[in-house]
Amino acid sequence: MGVPWSTLFTLGVWCLWLRRNNFIFRNQHNIKNLMAETIAKAFEFAFLGLNERHCHSLTTIQVWCLPPPEHWFKLNSDGSSLGNPSKAGGALPTKANLCRRHVTESATCERCIREEETTLHSLWSCSKIVSAWTAPEWCACQNLNPSNFKELLSWILNNHGNPELFAMTTWGLWHQRNQARLLRPFSSSDLVVAQAKERLDEFIATIPLLPPALPRPRMKWKPPDVYGFKINFDGAIFKQENKSGIGVVIRDHSGAVIASLSQLTAPAFQPIEIEALAVARALEFGKEIGITEAVLEGDSELIINSLKAGGKSIASVESLLQDAFVLSNCYSKLLYSHCRREGNRLAHSLARYSINVSNYVVWMEEVPTSLIKVVQQDIANMANQFQ
Ligand SMILES: *[C@@H]1O[C@H](CO)[C@@H](O)[C@H](O)[C@H]1NC(C)=O
Ligand SMILES: *[C@@H]1O[C@H](CO)[C@@H](O)[C@H](O)[C@H]1NC(C)=O
Repeated sequence: MGVPWSTLFTLGVWCLWLRRNNFIFRNQHNIKNLMAETIAKAFEFAFLGLNERHCHSLTTIQVWCLPPPEHWFKLNSDGSSLGNPSKAGGALPTKANLCRRHVTESATCERCIREEETTLHSLWSCSKIVSAWTAPEWCACQNLNPSNFKELLSWILNNHGNPELFAMTTWGLWHQRNQARLLRPFSSSDLVVAQAKERLDEFIATIPLLPPALPRPRMKWKPPDVYGFKINFDGAIFKQENKSGIGVVIRDHSGAVIASLSQLTAPAFQPIEIEALAVARALEFGKEIGITEAVLEGDSELIINSLKAGGKSIASVESLLQDAFVLSNCYSKLLYSHCRREGNRLAHSLARYSINVSNYVVWMEEVPTSLIKVVQQDIANMANQFQ
């Protein structure tokens, strides 16, 4: 498929790593298909690499294996030989590991001077660090009796709400043990816990917050309240004909059409211009019909927001929007609503329809025959208003 295996593999590793971070730092499980995600990223990457417009130096990617920077931590399960846990080597240079590798003669823990210093012992069960694990955060773990660190870690990951604090605490204990071994000053075990919390808070503070989820505009047409009316408007541009169109429809709470309008105008305006013309025409039309309370709805966020702000903020159409704003004062109650194009289909169809009319046409309690199905579709959608 044109994407080299080396790219696929590298991006696969990258995706796996991101997923692992999501789990560790945010406690989020990613259920998306890893292969699909990798392939999508690989294609994107290959596209960027091939497309000079974007970037011409992006032809290789490298993943570096660096030790974690300060304030970062690694969770190490310390059991790489999965099939034979009793012989698991483990990554930490504990006395037991060093002794097994014939680096030291004794495997005895230098803190308690009683037991063999395995990973589990140095980070969890040594009698000298008991006070680190009797803090209230770990009360759920009091009766645990893991046979190795890997077992402990998997219990924490599955059952404890705060594996990050666990990682920080074990890191602190390991640091404490090393300081003690090197005859340097070291923190007491209860202090290790307090420091772990502090470090974790500091670390969390550096994670950028996710932007708040914006409310998604509705996809379907939504009727107004029982006593109100809704005015939908839209504009259309006919470049070839050098013309523009306006569509407006007024409906009640049951979706029944009170009036509709389709108007052709010249020349072919800019999109924002025809939307501004359409909104002014919509307000004028509603006033002609005799509506005094309404929801005005369009799919142009710019126009709706500008009207909410009193008709300002878009220089090129400010005078048009000022007209609309003046007209809005003729209503005793007027609310503004932005919807997606799907929610504005009828007004959109009426604007497109204008190419077949000269000047403008108004239908009382009706729409052109070819658009009846759009009205019916909106009414059908009212039954299931889930977005
Ligand atoms: C479109 O019509 C206007 C007058 O209505 C004219 O000034 C303009 O040149 C026309 N544009 C094109 C592309 O024909
Ligand atoms: C305009 O009229 C033509 C011919 O009657 C028709 O094919 C076309 O669908 C109409 N366009 C619209 C938008 O209704």
